[in-house]
Amino acid sequence: MAPPARQRADGDRPPDGSPDGSPIPGAAGTPGASRRRFLTGSAVAGVTAGSLLRGAAPAAAEPTGAAAAPAAPAAETELRFTLNGAERTVSVEPRVTLLDALRERLGTTGPKKGCDRGQCGACTVHEDGRPVLSCLTLALTVRGKEITTVEGLADGDELHRVQQAFIDCDGFQCGFCTSGQVMSAAALVDSGRPGTDDEIREYMSGNLCRCGAYPNIVDAVRQAQGGPVKQRGARKPGAGEGAGKRGAGKPGPGERGGGEA
Ligand code: FES
Ligand code: FES
Repeated sequence: MAPPARQRADGDRPPDGSPDGSPIPGAAGTPGASRRRFLTGSAVAGVTAGSLLRGAAPAAAEPTGAAAAPAAPAAETELRFTLNGAERTVSVEPRVTLLDALRERLGTTGPKKGCDRGQCGACTVHEDGRPVLSCLTLALTVRGKEITTVEGLADGDELHRVQQAFIDCDGFQCGFCTSGQVMSAAALVDSGRPGTDDEIREYMSGNLCRCGAYPNIVDAVRQAQGGPVKQRGARKPGAGEGAGKRGAGKPGPGERGGGEA
């Protein structure tokens, strides 16, 4: 005699019905539909809806044609200021730095672009006698002001005492940092503020020198302040060269090649 058919655990519940035996909407109500077919259909519907939603989001966020177009260049504005004693006029965009205006538009290459982010001091110039980093100064902010670069520090053939001191003390090697060093030192010396060697180092700490000419730079500042001069292989003025006169055979600080212009 054949064994009795195995009793279903869910009693008489039809295989494609809901737990209470009622038809599953859209599935059991359809003749011949199965649970597997219902689940498969639900999954497909879910994926389709998800795809639609995913596709809709970027479409909603998609920029309009006008917003995606590149921004038009800002209009240039006329700028007038005094550069090394001469009135200058130049047209610049609002985003242009004083350093770029000086170097690229006015051909004044004494201020150097070392880091272009306010860390090395190679771009130091004077704004109304105050040392500023020209790479962090927007050109339009100096309208009507007096800007002095290393090119305007000497009085004719008479070097500024800081320039002469840098020559006398060999305060530079490659010269790239020198124009910035000289401008910072000149601001210190012209302020008449006396300084110990530590105070000089502190004041000049914003000017970096990758050649490591720091000891000679401190000597030069001390000499320019009228302090005692340490003989550190310093070049003394030759016969007939008075203090404050350009040393023969060696260009002034900020005037030599200094690597790049
Ligand atoms: S270039 Fe301006 S601080 Fe370095
Ligand atoms: S002399 Fe200062 S970087 Fe070379």
